[in-house]
Amino acid sequence: MDSIDPKRAAYINFLAKCDQAYRPFSPIDLPEFFAGRIEHIRRLEAEIGAPGRHVALYGERGVGKTSLAKLAYFFLRRNEEQTHFVRCEKSSTFDTIFRDALASAGVEVMLNGLESEGERHGTLGLGPIGIRGTRRVHRTFRRIVADQQITNRVLLDQFAPSDGLIIVDEYDRVTDAATHTRMAELLKHFSDAASTTKIMLVGVADTLSQLIGEHESISRSVAQIKLDRMSSEELGEVVSKGVQHLEATIKSGIATRIVRLADGFPYFVHLICRHAARVAANQILESGNTGVVISEDEYAEGLGGALSNAEHSLRESYAQATITTRRPSEKFMLVLWSVALSDERDVQVKDMAKNMAFFTGTGTEPKPGSFNWNLGELSGDNRGNILAKVREGYYKFTNPLMRPYIRSVMELENIVYHGKQWEFPFMKGAQ
Ligand SMILES: Nc1ncnc2c1ncn2[C@@H]1O[C@H](COP(=O)(O)OP(=O)(O)OP(=O)(O)O)[C@@H](O)[C@H]1O
Ligand SMILES: [Mg+2]
Repeated sequence: MDSIDPKRAAYINFLAKCDQAYRPFSPIDLPEFFAGRIEHIRRLEAEIGAPGRHVALYGERGVGKTSLAKLAYFFLRRNEEQTHFVRCEKSSTFDTIFRDALASAGVEVMLNGLESEGERHGTLGLGPIGIRGTRRVHRTFRRIVADQQITNRVLLDQFAPSDGLIIVDEYDRVTDAATHTRMAELLKHFSDAASTTKIMLVGVADTLSQLIGEHESISRSVAQIKLDRMSSEELGEVVSKGVQHLEATIKSGIATRIVRLADGFPYFVHLICRHAARVAANQILESGNTGVVISEDEYAEGLGGALSNAEHSLRESYAQATITTRRPSEKFMLVLWSVALSDERDVQVKDMAKNMAFFTGTGTEPKPGSFNWNLGELSGDNRGNILAKVREGYYKFTNPLMRPYIRSVMELENIVYHGKQWEFPFMKGAQ
């Protein structure tokens, strides 16, 4: 009988644990890997516990909204079975959202309009709808017949008496204006009826009204919880929870560098740690020792891997902005790096000039006029609007994830080609 090489087995086991610990592309769904957010959880508990209060959870792209929403049942000590998670799409409407929520609760809705649409496309068979996710429960389906729409009454009858949670994620994607009005009315109804099932709307937005529109009637029934970028401590916790799960160690200076690069976004911590840990896994093959260590070499190689596997949109957008007739253009790159170096998010043109001198090492700042044209191009369609003009003389990255991405590019370049000569201000204090 073939015996499995124990080193190989340990290596494979380590990689499998790495997939669980560092997951840049999916939300956290196990409490043991969820880091930080203590204040937000406290707020959520207080608001959901308050009679008549529902919640809108919003913030920038990628800050961790879905992860918090997915684990809300756990933090709020509610029954997972009575938690109904609906993910919106561009084409979602009030009826499709709540048809899904009802299906998750074991209620099959026979809607005239929807049914005929289902027949036309042959996709919307409303049989016992497969409950998404990992639910292991068998439900008995109840069938109700509604007229043209799912009414507030139907929803109240179904949900108001139970201690449930209806989570509507990616609500910002819904384009149908009538849905927003109907949602506002529903929230008010749930509130007035003191429903113990609570609704949680989740999505990318800067403000509540950007997420749900202007509806005065709901300001009392909906609590606003804005999810900010993560603090350094919270990001540090993301690193360490993963490392603990792997039973590995990371040099503290390296953990700090990863946290600094991530710029508040847990995505980058997961991405870099995942790749660095996978590189470190080779130590198991080499020595058979499972106590792997992530230090400078694993970090540098992992950073390279992280950049080549970063979100497609980031890589594409950076390439489109910097490549001219198939070759990288130094000037465009330098402008973007000078924006990424700044501590400010809205970067003044004269600071960019100062930052350019940091990279060129000449000590002479270029005249703003010499790169004005590049700035115009970088904030135009030709170069994918990578920058946006905030006001006269100020620019910022259109996608907030671009700053950590470019900072990571700069860091890798610094390690590989510049013998770590550059001391980036955003790395201050990290060894
Ligand atoms: N509290 C947390 N602890 C550890 N990792 C987290 C936490 N929150 C989010 N993450 C990680 O960060 C990344 C983004 O998380 P998530 O998908 O929840 O963000 P989001 O705000 O819903 O993003 P989007 O705006 O794209 O929908 C994922 O890799 C996720 O695993
Ligand atoms: Mg999300």
